[in-house]
Amino acid sequence: MPNTIRPLVAGNWKMHGLAHSLSELALIAQGSEQHKHCIDTLICPPATLLAAASNQSAGTCLAIGAQDCSSEPYGAYTGDISAAMVADSGARAVIVGHSERRQGRSETDADVLRKSQRVLEAGLQAIICIGETESEMLEGRTESVLLRQLKDSIPANGPCSSLVIAYEPVWAIGTGRTPTIEAIAGLHGFIRGYLVSAFGRDGAAVRILYGGSVKVDNAAEIACVDHVNGALVGGASLKSEDFLGILKAFGSIH
Ligand code: PGA
Repeated sequence: MPNTIRPLVAGNWKMHGLAHSLSELALIAQGSEQHKHCIDTLICPPATLLAAASNQSAGTCLAIGAQDCSSEPYGAYTGDISAAMVADSGARAVIVGHSERRQGRSETDADVLRKSQRVLEAGLQAIICIGETESEMLEGRTESVLLRQLKDSIPANGPCSSLVIAYEPVWAIGTGRTPTIEAIAGLHGFIRGYLVSAFGRDGAAVRILYGGSVKVDNAAEIACVDHVNGALVGGASLKSEDFLGILKAFGSIH
């Protein structure tokens, strides 16, 4: 089902964004309107802005998501935020298993699975990130790493309608480097093959985002690739002009 799936272009603000950044978000919401017939748009600000961003974006086509949540439903976990709390803030999605958490915070596939389960239980969309490191890529282990992450991070019962997979090669994040278009095509096809084998027809409709140095300049080329159903954008989501340029590139293809 190449490129017949409605794309999702999502921004991950990481640890950037203060109250004044809501004005940038308003510009993104405004600019997203002209693409709403063909693209879903999501911004994941820091947790401190979730409620304000959700309130501000209510009634617009821009959805708000969190960048992480606890693997526990509730309890004595000082500083953690549960999926139910994210839902309560008005947000609709959570990124789980980002490589900055898998690598930087030693999160395992089992942690990512439990977080994904909490997200789905809270009625939110789970954007599950997978991706190989540079050494895994150089050793020719990309597919086996992705397969392990897919098998061990995705809840077996779905539901697929609430799942999004983001393929983000770790070495491409924030580096300005991207895989070749052929490599992106091959790996997105590989991920699609797994999703169909695991979930049948439902797996054929799960969105697979590409992430890692997506910019205005390369977005159109990436948007054309089979089984690329959107993008997860870091640095280029911080400025409305850049992010809207990426939206436009996806809009011109879909
Ligand atoms: P980048 O980040 O677009 O800045 O490479 C992507 C991500 O980490 O999701």
